[in-house]
Amino acid sequence: MSLSRSTVVLRSENAGLKPFRISNVAPRPNAIALASWHSLAWLVFANAVGVLIAALLLMPRINTLLTPWTYGRWMPVHIDLQLYGWCSLPLVGFLLRAYGADAGWTAAWCRPVLWIWSTALGVGALSWITGHSSGKLFLDWVGYPRVLFPLALMALWALLVAAFAASWSVERTIGRWVKGIGLVALFAIPLLIYVAASPNLYPPINPDSGGPTGASQLESTLVIVAVLLFLPLGLTSGRQRRSSSRVFCWLVFAAETLLCLGLGRADVSHHRPVQFMSLASLLVWLPLIPMYYAGFMWHPNTKRWRIAFLAWWVVLVPTGWSLFLPGVLDHFKFTDGLVGHSLLAMAGFVSSLLIFVMVQMLGNDGWIFNGTWSFYVWHLSVLAYVAIMFIAGWHEGTNPTFNILPGAARNGIYALRLLLGVLIFLASLDWLIDANTMLREKEAEAAGVTA
Ligand code: HEM
Repeated sequence: MSLSRSTVVLRSENAGLKPFRISNVAPRPNAIALASWHSLAWLVFANAVGVLIAALLLMPRINTLLTPWTYGRWMPVHIDLQLYGWCSLPLVGFLLRAYGADAGWTAAWCRPVLWIWSTALGVGALSWITGHSSGKLFLDWVGYPRVLFPLALMALWALLVAAFAASWSVERTIGRWVKGIGLVALFAIPLLIYVAASPNLYPPINPDSGGPTGASQLESTLVIVAVLLFLPLGLTSGRQRRSSSRVFCWLVFAAETLLCLGLGRADVSHHRPVQFMSLASLLVWLPLIPMYYAGFMWHPNTKRWRIAFLAWWVVLVPTGWSLFLPGVLDHFKFTDGLVGHSLLAMAGFVSSLLIFVMVQMLGNDGWIFNGTWSFYVWHLSVLAYVAIMFIAGWHEGTNPTFNILPGAARNGIYALRLLLGVLIFLASLDWLIDANTMLREKEAEAAGVTA
C-alpha cells in the first residue's frame, strides 16, 4: 500500500466545535519519534553526567581519581547536552512537523539530519571532556565542533527549505509568509552561534552588578513568551475555539515589546524601580498563557503535561521576578539559589513544555510519557531539588563559605541533591526505554507498509 501527501479533515470530538484541518497527514510518525528518541537519549546521558558532578561536589576526592576528567570538564558536558540535546531536539522535531519536512520525499532526510545533529553534539562533548572549551557558558564550542555544530544547523535549515518549496502549492498565503520569515531568521543562527562562541565577544553584562538588567531579562523572557504564543499555531490547526482571547494575548505581547524597546539596553542597576517594575509586567502572563492554551484543542495524551508545564510557569515567573528584586538578587547572586532557579526553569518548566510538545506531535504514540511513577518522581524530585538549592543559596548569601567548607548542613543538602538526581535520572531512563519500544514498533510498521 502506498500512502501519499494528502489533506485530511478531522472532526472535533467535542460537540459544537468546528471541524479543523491538518494538512499533509501521511504515515510520518518516524521523524518525530526519532527526534524524541534522540532528545531523550541526550537527556539520560546528560542526567547521568549531572549525577556524576553532584557526586563530585559532595565528595571532591573523586576528582583525584578521575583526573584529568574532573568537575570543570564535565560541567559544560552536562549543561550543553541538556541545552543542545534534550531541550533543542524536540524543537527540531517541531520544525520538521511545522514545515511538513516529515512528509513526502523530504521525510527520508530527517533521519540523516538528526544523526548529523547528534554527531556534532557527540564531538562537542568529546572536545569539552578533553579540555577544549571557549569558557563561555552554553557557547563552549571551539575547534572542529565550532564548525560542525553550525553545519548541523545548516543541514536542518536546508531540509526545511526543501520542505517549504515542496509544500508551496498547497500552503496558504499567510503560511507562506510566516514560514518564509521563519526561514530567513533561522538562516542567521549557525553564523550567530559560530561568532558568539568566540571568547573575545562577551554578552552584555551589567558592569555595576555583574548581573542582568531588567531590560535584558524582560527581553529574553519575551522571547520565551513569543515561543509559547507561536507553538500552538504549529502544533494544532490553529483555527479552534476562542480566537478573541488569542488576539488579546498578541496585543499584550505587542505592547510589552514596545515597553521593552523603550527601556533600551543601557547597563543600569537593578535597584532602579523602573527596572524591576517593568519586569513585573511579565506577571500578566500568569493567567494569559493558560488562557491562550485553553483556546486550542489538544490530544488527550497531553493533558497532564499541559497542566504540569503551566503549573511550572506559574511558579517560575513570580519567583524569577522576586529573585531580581533589590536585596534579594544581592543576596542570591552566583549562589546555589541561582542553580535552583536554573533547574526550576529548565528541568521544571522547559522540560514539561517540551514533553507536552512531543506528546502532541506523537499523538497516540505519546503514551511513552504516560508513566505515572516517572511523572511524579520527576516533578517531585525537581521541586525538592529547587527547594534545597534555594535553602543552600540563602545560607551562602549570608555566609559565602557555606558551600565551600564541608559541614553537616551543606553535606546533607548535597547528599540529598545526589539522591534526587538519581531519581530524576531514573524517570528519564523510563521514558527512553519506552521511546525505544515505540521506535521499534514504528519501524516495524513502516517496514510492513513498504512491503
Ligand atoms: C539527574 C539530574 C540532575 C543532576 C544531578 C544535576 C546536577 C547539576 C549540578 C551538580 C550542577 C552544578 C551546580 C553548581 O555548579 O554548583 C548543575 C548545573 C546545571 N544543570 Fe543540572 N542536574 C540534573 C538535571 C538537569 C536537567 C534536567 C537540566 C535541564 C533540563 C539541568 C540543567 C542545569 C543547568 C542549566 C545548570 C547550570 C546552573 C547554573 O549555573 O545556574 N540539569 N546540575
